[in-house]
Amino acid sequence: MAILKIARMGHPVLLQKAEEVPDPTAPEIKQLVADMIETMDDAHGRGLAANQVHVAKRVVVFHPPADPTDDPTDEDAEDREAADADEEEGEADDPPVLALINPTLEVLDDELVPGWEGCLSVPEMRGVVPRFSRVRYSGTTPDGKQFEREVSGYHARVVQHEFDHLDGILYPMRMEDLGLLVFESEFHHYLGSSDDESSIEDDDDESEDDETDD
Ligand code: NI
Repeated sequence: MAILKIARMGHPVLLQKAEEVPDPTAPEIKQLVADMIETMDDAHGRGLAANQVHVAKRVVVFHPPADPTDDPTDEDAEDREAADADEEEGEADDPPVLALINPTLEVLDDELVPGWEGCLSVPEMRGVVPRFSRVRYSGTTPDGKQFEREVSGYHARVVQHEFDHLDGILYPMRMEDLGLLVFESEFHHYLGSSDDESSIEDDDDESEDDETDD
């Protein structure tokens, strides 16, 4: 395994549309996934797309948020209930990292919800980005299994952010108000603990500590 260099905004690979992977179970893809997970965790990221490590292939890794709204059949569930639901799906409270190859996304609710995001390729910054509130995503895991899930809220946001990378889209390109593109230091100083953010949906259950870069 190896920690890979992360491309920063301005590197052309981040604007490149990544290519489909013909064989998701190929050894070099397993290696890439292992390296991406190590790189993501070393950088304290929530997710990472292959473009971000200079490989324009359709591969993403991310820590699926333990989000109480990620079960669309149980949208108003409390954390505890969501955790129970996750367990029924064979997942622990802290879901393991997910690697998906050739992922696809389907919008289930076209309501756009603004929320703060960061990105390992746009270091030390945060921005408010509109994202669809509910999506279904799918893809192939490195062991060749098909994966599909319906999610909402913060989980849906993370997925849209990561999948965007594969189409050469960085979150500032999705922003509607560049006045809300701020340095992390100022975010924590002026915005992070503010209560008057009601118009800025940032998942209630995500503490500031969870403002990890995707
Ligand atoms: Ni990112």
